[in-house]
Amino acid sequence: MSGLVELRRLATPQDLFQAAADEVILAASEAIQQRGRFTIALSGGSTPRSLYTLIAANASASLPWDKVLFFWGDERHVPPTDSDSNYRMAFETILSKLPVPAANIFRVPAENPDASAAAEAYELTLRKSFSLGPVEVPRFDLILLGMGPDGHAASLFPETAALQEKSRLVVANWVEKLHASRITLTLPVLNAARRVAFLVSGADKATVLHEVLEGKAPGEKYPSKLVRPSEGKLIWFVDRAAASELSTAA
Ligand code: 6PG
Repeated sequence: MSGLVELRRLATPQDLFQAAADEVILAASEAIQQRGRFTIALSGGSTPRSLYTLIAANASASLPWDKVLFFWGDERHVPPTDSDSNYRMAFETILSKLPVPAANIFRVPAENPDASAAAEAYELTLRKSFSLGPVEVPRFDLILLGMGPDGHAASLFPETAALQEKSRLVVANWVEKLHASRITLTLPVLNAARRVAFLVSGADKATVLHEVLEGKAPGEKYPSKLVRPSEGKLIWFVDRAAASELSTAA
């Protein structure tokens, strides 16, 4: 069974960030009302950065932040102090600006020189935080994703081993073109979420967005195509520039 897919077209990047911020607050309010907490996986990249900045500036009074648990969809294989760290980016733009208890922040221990060990440790963190049995998969309330110019999502890059993973929750993924390992949630986790939101902005994403949403190439070539929550909602937030090669009418 496949869940709902929604394409939300916004005129400008600023409209896109506002719409995505509204969705975060809505998803959080619903989750806290229904289950007493909100679990969100953050993304790296420049597009989410603007969203975090907007939420921090405008929404600090909108939520009981002590009921929000922050995780990461992926991480670069660097220490948390590194300028490439997704944790550091989120800390600087949003987490340090809101009254979030330190105990609610679950970062990937990517300072471990062994990326596979970091992935295993993070899998254990997820199992504990979501009280999972050995074969259960966490159900995030919201996973935020950017989309790379090659169609990657989280750190699931085209034609990499992590795309085949069926049982692990988190893996280290060697990305030859970056000459680096990334640590990433796997497709079973992305596709078990209640909501997944892609944020795609800018003309440089137009061709790949067309390929992902309308093209016939296999998912191994454009991994964002493989993100299809089976019983959740998938929302594509796209601005006019990113949507400019889509065939469907605005
Ligand atoms: C990362 C990511 C990655 C990112 C996309 C889009 O750590 O880089 O999590 O998946 O979200 O590459 O990045 P931009 O928004 O910068 O294009």
